[in-house]
Parts: sequence; structure tokens; C-alpha cells
Amino acid sequence: METDILFSPLTIKNHTFRNRLGVAPMTRMSGGLDCIPRADVLDFLVSRAERGAGLVYTEAIVTDYESAQGYPGQARLTTQPQIDAWFKVVQAIHDHGAKAIMQMFHCGRMAWPEVNPAHRAIAPSAVAPAQNNPLTGSPYPCPEEMSHFDIDHVIQGFVETARGAVAAGFDGIEIHGAHGYLISQFLSSYSNKRHDEYGGSAENRFSFAREIIRAVRRVMPDDRLLLFRVSNWGIADMQVSLFASQQEWQTMIALLDKEELDALSVSTYRFSDPAFDSGQNMAQLTRAATSLPLLICGQIHDRATADAAMKDADIVLSGKSMLLNPDWVEGVRNGKVMPLYSSDEANVAYTEEPLP
Ligand SMILES: Cc1cc2nc3c(=O)[nH]c(=O)nc-3n(C[C@H](O)[C@H](O)[C@H](O)COP(=O)(O)O)c2cc1C
Repeated sequence: METDILFSPLTIKNHTFRNRLGVAPMTRMSGGLDCIPRADVLDFLVSRAERGAGLVYTEAIVTDYESAQGYPGQARLTTQPQIDAWFKVVQAIHDHGAKAIMQMFHCGRMAWPEVNPAHRAIAPSAVAPAQNNPLTGSPYPCPEEMSHFDIDHVIQGFVETARGAVAAGFDGIEIHGAHGYLISQFLSSYSNKRHDEYGGSAENRFSFAREIIRAVRRVMPDDRLLLFRVSNWGIADMQVSLFASQQEWQTMIALLDKEELDALSVSTYRFSDPAFDSGQNMAQLTRAATSLPLLICGQIHDRATADAAMKDADIVLSGKSMLLNPDWVEGVRNGKVMPLYSSDEANVAYTEEPLP
């Protein structure tokens, strides 16, 4: 009998995922002054573990108190009450047999300065995103070019948040290097116009990510997983290819491959789309440049798309289907006909009504 790869376990280091279906990171903007998500938002994560997901990501957790926050109500993970709240969630996810991964991010130039304690917007270069902030309907402010002091301070924010995740018992930590947020802004020559050691060549543009990866790895026990998320698209620059060519993408992946990472998560708008006129999709192009385990995401909504995505990846993540359909994992298992949800439908993420 043919093995059902989607529902077969996967071991990375000393962690065994019971299947290959995960809840993608999803920001819900539900936190109060304590920067802890609402109880029903945390319960949602546990419920997806209970209903069969192999791994569950947190929302993007904000790294420093100065300039990292891009949306209201985002979570943080540096105080004891925040650690205590997430500890319970991680325990419950484990009790249901799934793995828990904390994602952390700095918004960089995609900032809403009013929601940041220091009201600052910082980025590799003083260049604003092309599109308006979808939440305010206004242009993003032009960011300040980060000084070397800013760079060190931001790296410390990632380190402190990683320590929080270790204390809360997460199996893994993901550095969010995708979607046009700060790390992605450094990686892309579209937003990185620096002339120092953090700008110019692909290697230089990768320096900031490398420093974060290494600093974070140093505070993680060996048994925890370190992941990195990448994409060629940015939320406020949807039409832009953040990497200039297939070669540039693969150079960046090869640089990531040299670091002490345990997996790469490739985020796409639609996983099957050919990229860079290569005739290959992002997972295929990535696989050609690294032997790291790959997670893939983007319009994987039923058995057929999940099977197709698994041809070039090791784990598939779903955002909208996991959000909107509590029975999605079982639906995939049974080959049920299931819809492809729209971004508008995903706005339920921001209502106060608990999700089923
Ligand atoms: C409500 C919502 C919030 C999201 N927040 C994040 C986030 O915090 N971090 C992240 O990397 N991606 C985030 N995403 C993107 C998803 O992780 C995923 O890449 C995207 O939804 C595409 O997958 P899908 O087609 O299965 O929905 C979010 C998506 C949605 C719908």
C-alpha cells in the first residue's frame, strides 16, 4: 500500500510531527495593554491541535518595545505574565499531540508609529512602501534609516523574545523574514539602499538576518528548532518581486542553508504559481538550493492541493482554511470538497466573536 505522506510523521532533530499539516502564523490583533492575545484567540490555536493539526504557529509576536509593532493589539513575549499565558497554550497544544512554534517579527517600514511606544518607523533605508497602510488607508510614514545602534537594539529584541519562547516551552522559534517586514526589507534591494556592510551585494543584505539567526541560536537550547520564513512578495508592495531573479532568490536560500537553521518556511501567494519565469514554483526553486526541510504555504485548501504541494515540500501550512474550517484536517484526510477562502472571508480573524 502506498504511504500517505501527508499523514505520515516527520522527524526534524528530536521533534516528531505526527503529520504534515500545520496552522500558518496568523496575526489576530486581539491583545490588550498586557500584550497577551484574547482567551478565545489562544483557544483557537489549541482547538486546531485538538482537531488534528501536526503543528501550530503563533501569530507574529512583536520583538522590541521601541519600533517593532506594526498592528494594534499584537502580542509580545518578554514578561513573566506573557510567558505564563503562552506556557499554558503550549502545554495544551502538546496535550493534543501537536508541536508549537513561536513566530517573531519586526515590522520595519510597515509601521504604524502611533501603536509603537516610541512612535518610530525604522528601516534599512529611508524609503516608504508603495501602497497605503490597509488598516489606516493612509500612506506609511517614510522610515528613518537604521543606525548601527538601532540594528544592535533590534537584534536584542529578537533575542529577548526568543528567550521568552524558550521559557514558555515552545518546540520551535521562527524568525519572520518574509512579507516585506524588517528582515525582508534588508534582504531585498527594492527596500535596502544602504552603502554599508548591510547593503549592496546579496551577502551584505543577508548580514542583518545572519546576525539575528546567530544571536537567537545562542540563547536556544539545542533541542529547540529554529526556522526562518521567506517570501518573494510583500504585503504593502504586492506587485513587486522582492528578489530580482531566480538566481538572487537561490543565492539568498543558499546563504540561509549555511546557517544553523532546522527548516525554511516558504510563503507564497499561490504555491503552484511558476516564479521568475522559470516554469518552476517557489518550493521547487528553493529545494534546488537547500537540503533543509521545507514548509510551504499559499492557497493549499484541499486534498488535491495539499498532495501537489507536498511533492516539493515536507510540511504544508494553511492560513485561511485553518482559520475558517475547524474540520479542515479531517476534510483533507477524507478528500472532502472544500472551498478556497478569500482574503475578505479571513477578516473574521479580527472580530471579537470566538471562531468555531
Ligand atoms: C488573518 C491572517 C493573519 C496573518 N498573519 C500572519 C503573520 O502574523 N505572520 C505570517 O508570517 N503570515 C501571516 N499571514 C499569512 C499566512 O501565514 C499565510 O501565509 C497566508 O494566509 C497564505 O496561506 P493561505 O492561502 O493558506 O491562507 C496571515 C494570514 C491571515 C489570513
